[in-house]
Amino acid sequence: MKTRIYNHTDLLTESVRLDIKTTFLEGRNVVFPTETVYGIGANALSKKGVEGIYNLKGRPSDNPLIMHLSKKEDITPYIKNKLPYVDKLMEAFWPGPITLVFEKSDLVPNNITGGLNTIGIRIPDSEIARKIIDIAGVPISAPSANISGRPSATLFNHVLEDFEDKVDIIIDGGKSKIGLESTVVDVTKPIPVILRPGMITKKMIEEVVGEVLLAGEIKEDDIPKAPGMKYKHYAPKGKLAIVVGDELEVINYINKMIKLHSSENKTVGIITPSEYRNEFETDLVFSIGNLNDETEIASNLFAALRKMDKKNIDYIYSFSFEKGKYAEAIMNRLYKAANKNIIKL
Ligand code: TXA
Ligand code: MG
Repeated sequence: MKTRIYNHTDLLTESVRLDIKTTFLEGRNVVFPTETVYGIGANALSKKGVEGIYNLKGRPSDNPLIMHLSKKEDITPYIKNKLPYVDKLMEAFWPGPITLVFEKSDLVPNNITGGLNTIGIRIPDSEIARKIIDIAGVPISAPSANISGRPSATLFNHVLEDFEDKVDIIIDGGKSKIGLESTVVDVTKPIPVILRPGMITKKMIEEVVGEVLLAGEIKEDDIPKAPGMKYKHYAPKGKLAIVVGDELEVINYINKMIKLHSSENKTVGIITPSEYRNEFETDLVFSIGNLNDETEIASNLFAALRKMDKKNIDYIYSFSFEKGKYAEAIMNRLYKAANKNIIKL
C-alpha cells in the first residue's frame, strides 16, 4: 500500500475531503494530528476499521479505544447518563486534552471498549482533528498513533516510522502542541477518578468540581485503572534509568556511567533539562527544555525517547522532572518508559 499524505491546506480541496470520508466509511484507517499526540483513526462504528487499528498497532483487544467527536452535543447518543458535575467539566475543558469515561449506550460497539460497559470520549482542541471528524461524519475511534509499546507519536516523522505504507492516509500536522496524551477521567461515579494523568491536572479539575481522586491513591481493588496502564509502555530499546538526586550529584553520577559504559564499547544517551546540556562527556545529549518550562519538556519527551531508538543507544540516563504542576503527567510517562528503574543518589 502507498500511503497518501495530506496537510492542513489539502483539506480545503474537495477531492481530498472525499478521499478521507470514503476511507473512513470503507473501514480503513487515517492517522491525524491532535493537540496531544497523533491518533490512528477509524470509523468507530466499523468493525473492519476498528480491527485495522488493533492489527496495525499490535494492540491487545482488551485495551479500549477513545471515541473522538467534534461537538459536545454529539456525545448524547453514545452515553447512558451524565452526572450533574460532568457538565461543568465539559464546559471547562472541552474541546481539549481530557477524555471523559461514561457508561456507554447500546450504540457503542463492544469491540471499541475492550468489553467494558464504559466509553471514553474526547473532543480534541486541535482544529484539524475536529475537521477530520466532521469530514468523516461518524465518531472516530483513535488511540495514539504508535506501534503498541513504543512512545506516542508527536512528530509527523514518528508516524512515518511506524505506519508509512501501512495506513491509507496520514495527515501531517507538524509537531503536537502538548506532546503527552489526554488526561483520562472516570465520570461514572459521584467523585471523578483520574485514570491517566495529563496536562489537565488534578488541581485544575478540583477547581471546577471539588473532590477528585487519582486512580493510584484508591485503596479498593475493584476500581479499575485505564486498562492500557497495565501494559508495557513507551519503552526505548536501550536500558533507561531515571537518576534522582541533587543536580551536581546527578551530573557526576551520569558522567561516571558514561565512562564505564564507553569502556565496554556501549553507547550512552542522556535526557536532561537544557540548563545542563553541556555538562556531559558524550555527544548523545537530548536536552528537552528549560526546567521552568514544563510545557516544553512535556512536548519533547516522547521525541527524545524515540531518538534513542533511532541511534541504537544501549544505556539511557534521564534526569527526574519532579517539580512543577505537570510533574505528575511527565513522570507517569517517564516511570513507565524506565520500567520503574530509578537510581536514588
Ligand atoms: O490524547 C489522547 O488521549 C490520544 C489522542 C489520539 O486523542 N489518544 C490516546 O489513546 O492516548 P490511547 O488508546 O493510546 O490511550 C487511551 C487510554 C488507554 O490507557 C486506555 O486503556 C484508556 O485510555 N481508556 C480508554 N477507554 C477507557 C475506558 N472506557 N475505561 C477506562 N480506560 C479507558
Ligand atoms: Mg497510547
